[in-house]
Amino acid sequence: MRLKDKVAIVTGASRGIGAAIARKFCEAGASVMLCSRSAASVAGVAEALVREGWNAKSAQADISDEADVEALRDLTLEEFSRIDILVNNAGINRDALFLRMKSEDWNAVLQTNLTGTAYCMRTVIRPMMRQRSGRIINITSVVGLTGNVGQANYAASKAGIIGLTKSIAKEVSSRGITVNAIAPGFITTDMTAKLSEADSQRMLELIPLGVFGTPEDVAEVALFLASDAAGYITGQVIQVDGGMVM
Ligand SMILES: NC(=O)c1ccc[n+]([C@@H]2O[C@H](COP(=O)([O-])OP(=O)(O)OC[C@H]3O[C@@H](n4cnc5c(N)ncnc54)[C@H](OP(=O)(O)O)[C@@H]3O)[C@@H](O)[C@H]2O)c1
Repeated sequence: MRLKDKVAIVTGASRGIGAAIARKFCEAGASVMLCSRSAASVAGVAEALVREGWNAKSAQADISDEADVEALRDLTLEEFSRIDILVNNAGINRDALFLRMKSEDWNAVLQTNLTGTAYCMRTVIRPMMRQRSGRIINITSVVGLTGNVGQANYAASKAGIIGLTKSIAKEVSSRGITVNAIAPGFITTDMTAKLSEADSQRMLELIPLGVFGTPEDVAEVALFLASDAAGYITGQVIQVDGGMVM
């Protein structure tokens, strides 16, 4: 049990990559607090884990709202007494060509993906500092490294997460806290289900390993970064993309 006695928060855990990470952490022995904006869907995922004998709780929280994030931290400390691991997975996209992009869509994506991630980090760092240990894992995207047509807001938010990861890694390293990022490529989830068959085929041609990734592929790397095995790794961005970007 690689995460025995550890307590983790996973944001955006009602489906897709977040739900897979929550499951992987539970199976590794962690107690997990799952959150998303929809109380009912995240509760469904947590209840399924509990029925299988794992230790999971859920909370409604919108990471773009600082008060929600503080309430999530307080509830986690109340339920589980400590916070060892934070996975900043919640994210949205609102794609459009830059000149047609509404300010509303620019702001929503930056506020959720970048500012929400920063709120969650700031909120858990204090209890982690007191424990003199902690693991923060931020989910960025290969698009944050390469840019992408129609995703200026999303790419900027994901590039911002990389700068945030490296800066905070430097700030908290002396307190035993590591901060790393995972950059998935094309992972099959609701977020990517919107692509047309033709676009999916074009995307597949860009992946040397010849298949799309799964949420479990990302969850395996999150488990490694959260575990003792990754104790000497901080400020890194690990791509899980089948070789798409190299
Ligand atoms: N799928 C890919 O190919 C891919 C590639 C690179 C990076 N990523 C990144 O991986 C992460 C997960 O992606 P996914 O594909 O699993 O997406 P998804 O299927 O759309 O799931 C997103 C999750 O985030 C939650 N969420 C969204 N906004 C939130 C907010 N403001 N506060 C709290 N929870 C929120 C959603 O639940 P509610 O709607 O109930 O809030 C849901 O649980 C995202 O950061 C995404 O950018 C995905």
